[in-house]
Amino acid sequence: MIIILLGPPGAGKGTQAKVISRKYNFKHYSTGDALRHEVQYNTELGIKARKYMDEGALVPDSVIAEIVKAHLADNENVLLDGYPRNITQAQDLDIILSSLNRSIEYVFYLETDDEIIIRRLSSRRVCPECGRIYNIISMPSKKVSMCEDDDNVLLQRKDDHEDVIRNRLKVYHNETHPLVAYYNERGILHKVNGEKDIKPLMADISCVLDGGVSNGN
Ligand code: AP5
Repeated sequence: MIIILLGPPGAGKGTQAKVISRKYNFKHYSTGDALRHEVQYNTELGIKARKYMDEGALVPDSVIAEIVKAHLADNENVLLDGYPRNITQAQDLDIILSSLNRSIEYVFYLETDDEIIIRRLSSRRVCPECGRIYNIISMPSKKVSMCEDDDNVLLQRKDDHEDVIRNRLKVYHNETHPLVAYYNERGILHKVNGEKDIKPLMADISCVLDGGVSNGN
């Protein structure tokens, strides 16, 4: 089964993906995390990706298609977080899935206002080791500036500064948002309210996955 989490930067895709993938036994695949890993280890791909990521632009589609294809071929139940990001990537994904004789079952669109996003992302902190996501306002670590799981010092992502966040939002509205209509036309889009707190939002997504219907409010 393939699930996609779609939404603006900071809508909570990563936060929800971690919980849902644990609960339903899905492999969580974030193209953002995969790219950051490549950047951290200065691989050829990482060197290519870094400048786009630092500016909040999208990394070229051909680079992304290769890494996603390999991952989908290796895993049965996958939750995609941050992919696809534009119509070309959605079409690439259709081709990859058809070659594997698979299809997308659910697309969750986490609708969230831009100003909320700017507040959330400016206050996000992440563990550089395990990737656990915190927020100094809504979800602070009990160990102040350290990860509760492994005691590493929490960091602010380079692209979580306001000027870059605004550029990421512009890219989102121009390139990614059209995917809402793309998947809605196929009848697999479920709109959920990304402005809800983490637990009620999780309950709305679970309700759909458990066979109910979320009203998106
Ligand atoms: P990526 O890492 O995918 O970033 P993003 O899509 O911009 O999303 P974020 O990770 O910023 O936000 P999120 O929705 O996961 O929110 P989170 O759960 O962390 O991509 C980074 C870059 O990589 C891109 O700009 C691009 O350059 C490149 N890239 C990646 N994929 C690509 C692709 N397919 N093609 C081309 N380029 C690609 O939550 C945010 C904060 O809010 C946290 O602090 C959290 O604690 C808090 N929070 C979460 N939910 C709630 C809630 N319900 N209420 C209150 N606070 C909440």
